[in-house]
Amino acid sequence: MTQQQPFPGSEFPTIPGEPLNLEPIEKALLKMCYGVHVIGSVNSAGERNLMIADWVMQVSFKPRLVAASIENDARTLRFVRETNAFTVNLLHERDGHEIARKVVMPSEGKKIRGRSEEAAAAVHDKLDGLAHFLTPEGAPILEEALGWYYCTVEQFFETGDHTLVIGRVLDGDVTRSGDILTEKELGWEYAG
Ligand SMILES: Cc1cc2nc3c(=O)[nH]c(=O)nc-3n(C[C@H](O)[C@H](O)[C@H](O)COP(=O)(O)O)c2cc1C
Repeated sequence: MTQQQPFPGSEFPTIPGEPLNLEPIEKALLKMCYGVHVIGSVNSAGERNLMIADWVMQVSFKPRLVAASIENDARTLRFVRETNAFTVNLLHERDGHEIARKVVMPSEGKKIRGRSEEAAAAVHDKLDGLAHFLTPEGAPILEEALGWYYCTVEQFFETGDHTLVIGRVLDGDVTRSGDILTEKELGWEYAG
């Protein structure tokens, strides 16, 4: 991930004064624009998780299909592989950054470099304190999102360091007025 800015309020390590030397190819990829989503998932034991994802898009009208590109080592991907279900929560332009801050860190401490052995073994519950309801499959939908939809998985494609998850959209709604938060507004980039 290209970190254009430190992650405010998070524990992401940043190096003060670190020069930002971007290759031209990274600059081009960073010009693409994304909305900010939170993918909700559940595993076969009923444990739930949330993760921020920019790389989500509709890829078919009939049937309605979306593609979400998920890091191969994400806990979310493991959960989605187990239950073939996921939700997409669209963050609100006005206050979506508050949810983003709560869910930005990986749930598993071992994914963060430099953690002590004890901290690396810890699993962080990103749903803690976030009001939500559940799809019939048990995946979480955030009450404070602008809108949401949920999917059942049609296909998985391994694509480099991510896996493209193709989901058939089963239901969805927009529950607040306004627009989706964009990654430019959020100030955290995921591209390059
Ligand atoms: C703004 C932003 C956008 C992100 N977009 C994606 C994405 O599209 N796909 C992805 O796999 N990870 C993305 N990430 C990284 C994941 O949110 C991160 O790896 C997360 O910790 C995975 O959580 P999990 O291991 O608990 O499932 C993004 C991170 C940020 C800050």
